[in-house]
Amino acid sequence: MVPGASESHELQRTIDALHSRYKPLTDGDVASYIPELTKANPEHFGICIATAEGAVFETGDCDRAFTIQSISKPFTFGMAIEAYGAETVAKYVGVEPSGDVFNSIELMSGSNRPHNPMINAGAITVSALLHARYGDEAFDLILERFSTAAGRRLTIDADVFESERRTGHRNRAIAHLLLNFGLVHDAAERALDVYFKQCSILVTCRDLAMMGATLANMGKHPITGAQAYEIPSVRSMLSIMFTCGMYDYSGEWAYRVGVPAKSGVAGGVIAVVNRQLGIATYSPRLDKHGNSARGIEVCVELASRFGLHAFDCLNVGSGFLQVIL
Ligand code: DON
Repeated sequence: MVPGASESHELQRTIDALHSRYKPLTDGDVASYIPELTKANPEHFGICIATAEGAVFETGDCDRAFTIQSISKPFTFGMAIEAYGAETVAKYVGVEPSGDVFNSIELMSGSNRPHNPMINAGAITVSALLHARYGDEAFDLILERFSTAAGRRLTIDADVFESERRTGHRNRAIAHLLLNFGLVHDAAERALDVYFKQCSILVTCRDLAMMGATLANMGKHPITGAQAYEIPSVRSMLSIMFTCGMYDYSGEWAYRVGVPAKSGVAGGVIAVVNRQLGIATYSPRLDKHGNSARGIEVCVELASRFGLHAFDCLNVGSGFLQVIL
């Protein structure tokens, strides 16, 4: 818990109880396909909730740094939308769930575009768009934007970057397939470096909760007041997180939890309750979909306990009808 949040607050008591309940859960395995990630401690476990007003509730390992990995994808997607406009970005990458693993080597039949920006093919396309626009400054701009969303200066883990760059043959294959279809510019290797670097940005569970709270707060960091993303891009980011953020578990996630979310192979999960909360968990053991096993259980319970699901009866939704009737 941090200053400003009360020990007796129901959110604090709930996350403390969930931490105790799921600490003994040892299902799943730490990611090993990127050699450097095997060094993660499987016991680490943190839960953090930040409100759109800036109150923070946390328990467990919320200060440990780990790499953001795929949780970077909605945040670079938002940057691409702001750089090119949603219509142009749509010519390069779709918004359909793929129902397939995150690193599958496939494009949509007919259009030969990646299904969506949350799977690797779509995310590499987005990084290439940013590289095409900003050249070798692209990564610095990404780091700056993520830092604004988190409310503090972030850095990268150079060892994870090198490890991923050295062993990322599958992503290299995807990038060259994209190059073949003209979705990635000729500097495909430089674009891949942007992608590998964005995945290697170090965050804590608290940073992720704050980044989530920034999205919940219409793109504005709840404490610093800095506008990290424009309001229309936040809507696009949250939509794609809702439908595609948890890979081939996205449908079940939408059914059981019902909020926009994104996971990363280092063990982070970010979830956003629109206009209300950023939720983050950190636990490196992953299930068969590549999502944090403890993270999923915690989010399912939080959603059910507090009625967070977008279609929960407690969620009153848009006030539009009251205005016009
Ligand atoms: O492309 C990769 O393999 C990683 N850098 C990111 C993948 C990732 O986090 C998938 N998430 N569950």
